[in-house]
Amino acid sequence: MSVRFTWAEVDAGAITHNARELTRLAGRAQLLAVVKAFGYGHGAAGAAEAALAGGATWLGVALVEEGEALRRAGITAPLLVLSEPRPSAMPAVVASGLRPTIYTEEGVDAAARAAAGLPSPLRVHVKVDTGMHRVGATPDAAVRLAQAVAERPELHFEGLFTHFAVADQPELAEHTAAQVASLRQVAASLAGLGVRPDLLHAANSAGLLAHPDARLDLVRCGIALYGLAPAPALAGVVDLRPALSLKAEVSFVKPLAAGEAASYGLCWAAPADTVVATVPIGYADGVPRSYGVRGGRVLIGGRRCPVVGTVTMDQLLVDCGQESPVERGDECVLIGRQGDEEVTAWEWAERVGTIAYEVVCGLSSRVPRLWS
Ligand SMILES: Cc1ncc(COP(=O)(O)O)c(C=O)c1O
Repeated sequence: MSVRFTWAEVDAGAITHNARELTRLAGRAQLLAVVKAFGYGHGAAGAAEAALAGGATWLGVALVEEGEALRRAGITAPLLVLSEPRPSAMPAVVASGLRPTIYTEEGVDAAARAAAGLPSPLRVHVKVDTGMHRVGATPDAAVRLAQAVAERPELHFEGLFTHFAVADQPELAEHTAAQVASLRQVAASLAGLGVRPDLLHAANSAGLLAHPDARLDLVRCGIALYGLAPAPALAGVVDLRPALSLKAEVSFVKPLAAGEAASYGLCWAAPADTVVATVPIGYADGVPRSYGVRGGRVLIGGRRCPVVGTVTMDQLLVDCGQESPVERGDECVLIGRQGDEEVTAWEWAERVGTIAYEVVCGLSSRVPRLWS
């Protein structure tokens, strides 16, 4: 049991609900739940179980270690490592029953070596770079690699996929359409050679929500699973419920007279006599140091109150106003609802110039996650 008065509440039911909504929208395409980066800060095993309960049939991670941890947690669903593991990591991929992504010849060789002697071939997915230019084989190279995979008895060509760069920007829909067309062209070239993957996939959350042609055989959703739209413009396409709330208890309360300054640098001074609450959460927990300066708000007593002064490593200050009845032990909501008010991860993100992904992934491991 945690004795810290700062915590994140994670609602498994919300993740299950979101998975159901995404599965429904995906139609005949399967849902792969992306649970990398500690389940986008929520907790990977809990997120995986909740998503599988809602209809997801696949899981995706960034790191072999993340896949190993899910297996240790008893999760047996098909699990794709979304980038090519280093050759030295392929035996670990095999040992944990993970599916590697491959986009180099070195990767094909390493996967085949690691799979030698297995009772059944190792299932691999070839990643094509169709325009994101992060990782993946060029379309021509992907055809050669997929052929090489198909020729290796130790390997099974299970998937051919790509990743979108701008699916969350409806004004750039042509780029996404071109990426889908490029992937389909690779698949068609391979089909001409008699080589066919079991699954063709491309869509992330934004691809599923905004680009019906991109749904193909499987969609890989991360952010939407956690109840957050990939971009504010894509909110409302399906009913998404945010799964995470971030809360703390007020640890100290003091009156400040007009003109008295507070926190490091004394860069904020009370504009009038007021009551300031101290909340035991800081940048070591994932709240940006500049959150107050950038207009960040929290909820105390059902009211939106400004975070003031510099956020420190473990604590921040909130201007509750002169008449505030705030007391030590009161609940402070940094993300989530209190009464009729809500602070969303997107509101937080926009104040500090980032995206909701970074807000939830940025919550540090010292914030206990309480699942319900
Ligand atoms: C290859 C790949 N597929 C799918 C996703 C999920 O993206 P999103 O969280 O936008 O749904 C990611 C996340 O970055 C990814 O890297």
